[in-house]
Amino acid sequence: MRMRIGILTTGNEEEDNRLVEAAEQRGHNVKLLNIMKCSLSVCFDAPEIYYEGKPISKDFDLIIPRIDTPHTEYGLAILRQFQAMHIFTSDTSYALKLGRDKLRCTQRLLQENVPFPTTGFAYSKEDFANIIKTVGGVPLVIKLIEGTEGVGVFLADDMKHAVNLLKTFKKLSTPLIVQKFIEESSGSDIRAFVIGNEIVASMERKSSDGDFRANIALGGQSKVVTLSTEEQKIVLKATAAIGINIAGVDLIRSNSGPLVIEINTSPNFGGEWGLESITNVDVAGAMVEFSVNQCNELTDNTVALRDAG
Ligand SMILES: Nc1ncnc2c1ncn2[C@@H]1O[C@H](COP(=O)(O)OP(=O)(O)O)[C@@H](O)[C@H]1O
Ligand SMILES: [Mg+2]
Repeated sequence: MRMRIGILTTGNEEEDNRLVEAAEQRGHNVKLLNIMKCSLSVCFDAPEIYYEGKPISKDFDLIIPRIDTPHTEYGLAILRQFQAMHIFTSDTSYALKLGRDKLRCTQRLLQENVPFPTTGFAYSKEDFANIIKTVGGVPLVIKLIEGTEGVGVFLADDMKHAVNLLKTFKKLSTPLIVQKFIEESSGSDIRAFVIGNEIVASMERKSSDGDFRANIALGGQSKVVTLSTEEQKIVLKATAAIGINIAGVDLIRSNSGPLVIEINTSPNFGGEWGLESITNVDVAGAMVEFSVNQCNELTDNTVALRDAG
């Protein structure tokens, strides 16, 4: 069936264009909706979503969200309105929000028995020394709770450096977590792209300049990787733990087995070292097909989509 698809976007041109191309190739009608041009009327009798001032709530059967980190709050407010007006969305605002919070995500992994590096969190300066001890002392990793693309992820080599970073971010009221540094995996990680209950593509990333962070945005390079059965299970359990359908799971290989470090919602798949180029998998096509199938099968995702509760 020909669908009217809206890509709710914050302007990531390469991925947006791939999704438009993939939807058009499959005979759908597709439009990019920049969240900054959307506005809402949350009205009991006549709710509406406006695009550049014109009502659009009757124009779409399906919304695929692509919301980047700086625009999470506004983007999710718009997405929630589509959900509230019973327009099908390929992921829920709830799951997207969970994926943006590294601490909440880790706590969901704990609840669902998915392995991850030991993580500490504290409010008061007096507790810093203790949480540093719980993650195995220095060197350790410090992460801003809402960081992305390696920005906001630090390696503290000694105690003085670690405490200084913790105190600095405390002063700035920026929430962070401390995490055990998995030295044996330093500089490399695995990105597995999940759509529904399937891992459609995965790659190994390696930093090219000795950085402990493997992010492509920081100059990392990638190659195709085959995941073990255990790794595949862990990846799928991780996305189910936060109720997300489309996500990029970051995994590291430790001496004690695979560990999930992050679940990226609205993950990128373009670029020279991105998943589509490296694996030749049509990620955009798989996203469109999955979303269309879900929309055909389920009429109201407020009850039918996976929900982490
Ligand atoms: N606990 C850790 N031990 C070793 N390396 C890590 C650890 N956590 C993160 N890294 C490295 O840092 C990179 C960025 O961390 P990640 O948690 O994925 O944050 P971001 O959202 O910035 O990508 C990872 O891809 C990995 O290479
Ligand atoms: Mg990451």
